[in-house]
Amino acid sequence: MNKKIAFFDSGIGGLTVLHRALQQFPEEQFIYYADTLHVPYGPKTADEVRGHIYDAVEAILRENVKAIVIACNTATSLSVKELRARIDIPVIGMEPAVKPAVEMNRESGKRVLVFATALTLSQAKYNELVSRVDDHNTVDSIPLPELVEWCEQLDFDEDKITDYFRMKMADLDLNMYGTVVLGCTHYPYYTAMLRKVLPAHVRIIDGSMGTVNRLQQLLGLSEQHGVWTEDQITFLSSSGKSEDLDNMKHALQYLQMSNL
Ligand code: DGL
Repeated sequence: MNKKIAFFDSGIGGLTVLHRALQQFPEEQFIYYADTLHVPYGPKTADEVRGHIYDAVEAILRENVKAIVIACNTATSLSVKELRARIDIPVIGMEPAVKPAVEMNRESGKRVLVFATALTLSQAKYNELVSRVDDHNTVDSIPLPELVEWCEQLDFDEDKITDYFRMKMADLDLNMYGTVVLGCTHYPYYTAMLRKVLPAHVRIIDGSMGTVNRLQQLLGLSEQHGVWTEDQITFLSSSGKSEDLDNMKHALQYLQMSNL
């Protein structure tokens, strides 16, 4: 029997990555596990979140899956190394796409703005990544904690969110930026709203495509054709509440409708 591929996030953020995987691999079966008892991870301490991640991964491994995608930048930065050492199936992580962003602006000299959780931004893994690739000091970063909370409530109120983006970037001269990196998997739900407040030349990138390509490579998956359906996914959550599962399904429908 073809085993399932697991996707894991604190909440519905990782669905932005699963949505891409579904389109690319309509013949695969997936598990989506959300740690709804503990979302959001971003404002918590590293030790607390590490414990939640290990519990979630233990629950996922009971499902006998063939790979785990940590579809969460925060969880990756805290645990991917340890998980890879402990688990004997592929573990695919995500980190903010700082390297490609810096490279795409090298010639123009434009700056890079990274949005990620406070916990991701405070980790050695992120700071080492920036010092390794940002040789001209062009990277700035801002946490957007409210966005994760609103996302979990399926709050996509355009006026409120565009005002929020404007407020968060009020001190920046946006013309100096060439790329915004979405370094949290919850943020791509708001890409269209962010687009409205950024100058037209600023690119918005996230790590979902790179992650799904890495999954394909590690599992040796070949190109698949067809249309994905919700039946390919088993939704699970740490609370086990049916409202959480409904929330995940609605979020996935929103991503599908919005073409994200
Ligand atoms: N979706 C997550 C990430 O990519 C975490 C958001 C949170 O729980 O604060 O970082």
